[in-house]
Amino acid sequence: MINVTKTYLPNKEKYKKYVDEIYANGWITNNGPLTKKLEKELCKYLGVKNILLVANGTAALEIAYRVLDLEGYAITTPFSFVATTSSLVTNNLKPIFVDIDKKTLNIDAEKIKNAITPNTSAIVPVHVFGNSCDVEKISEIAKEHKLKVIYDAAHAFDVEYKGTNVLNYGDISTLSFHATKLFHTIEGGALIINDDSLIQKAKYLINFGIENAESIPELGINAKMNEFEAAMGLCLLDEMKEVSKKRKTLHERYKNKLKDIIEMQEQNSNSNQNHSYFPIILKNNKEMVEIKQRLNDANIFPRRYFYPSLDTLHYIEPKQFCKNSRDIASKILCLPLYPELTENDQVKIINIVKSTLRKTS
Ligand SMILES: Cc1ncc(COP(=O)(O)O)c(C=O)c1O
Repeated sequence: MINVTKTYLPNKEKYKKYVDEIYANGWITNNGPLTKKLEKELCKYLGVKNILLVANGTAALEIAYRVLDLEGYAITTPFSFVATTSSLVTNNLKPIFVDIDKKTLNIDAEKIKNAITPNTSAIVPVHVFGNSCDVEKISEIAKEHKLKVIYDAAHAFDVEYKGTNVLNYGDISTLSFHATKLFHTIEGGALIINDDSLIQKAKYLINFGIENAESIPELGINAKMNEFEAAMGLCLLDEMKEVSKKRKTLHERYKNKLKDIIEMQEQNSNSNQNHSYFPIILKNNKEMVEIKQRLNDANIFPRRYFYPSLDTLHYIEPKQFCKNSRDIASKILCLPLYPELTENDQVKIINIVKSTLRKTS
């Protein structure tokens, strides 16, 4: 069976050594030495100032909203994983969707201004499939209207924009280190906080709002990463160059073989590609369903990522309609992409996609 992704597991002996270390010192969670070490190494690797590790990418978003004391409405994209929106709703923020650009698949920055009201406190864009948003335009709008910007950068590990890490844009960026991600810690996530004065509060919020044994200055949650997860991250970080190289080869092979017959996401020309996903945009829903079925028949499971469009969620108030996002969600598929995918299997996928397209056109 070939799934859309397969978790990359780093060198087992190296991981065992970390496990021995954890057993020897008995410190398994609550900001232990490996969590601190991984924070430091990630700062260096990514070229960012501050990283706080957390339990998952959803918790990272929740902490970000709380650190910035957001209230009222948050402008966001309807084309994302559900956590981008649900985390707003569970934190008493109303998502106001601005439709996407059908080519980049990111929020259409040109349309953000029209959605701003006196109740708007923030913009929550997503670098969809690792493709940088129009970060300069978004910064300009946020500055003019005094809005906070939180980038859901769950897919944007190792992405640069004009030579600096894209995580350096906005007030806060969040990462997901879920097992399916380019870089993972089994479950995990991170906040990249660009304003030093917010760090202390974020640390309290990650740990129930607690400052010390006698003081609880904030209303926090439990969002702590544990030492076994941090150890996984440390092992994987050492292998990231190799992982990225393999993904690049696979990504380029898909692109070269399919670019003339299938529409692809338009990349931000100021950014690099991190090869985290390979989405294909079909002509219509029928064509997408046909390709998915043919691949499934061959025991290959691409994913409708993202579906459904988040403006269709039943718990969204006020009701909204985003035409571009709904259209793209109805006809997009992410093809299998992971370091262990063999060339033979990839060629098989490419051939099924091509032959199905020939039949449907
Ligand atoms: C865009 C986006 N945001 C947020 C999340 C949530 O991250 P996590 O699964 O680590 O909670 C994901 C996870 O897939 C995601 O793709």
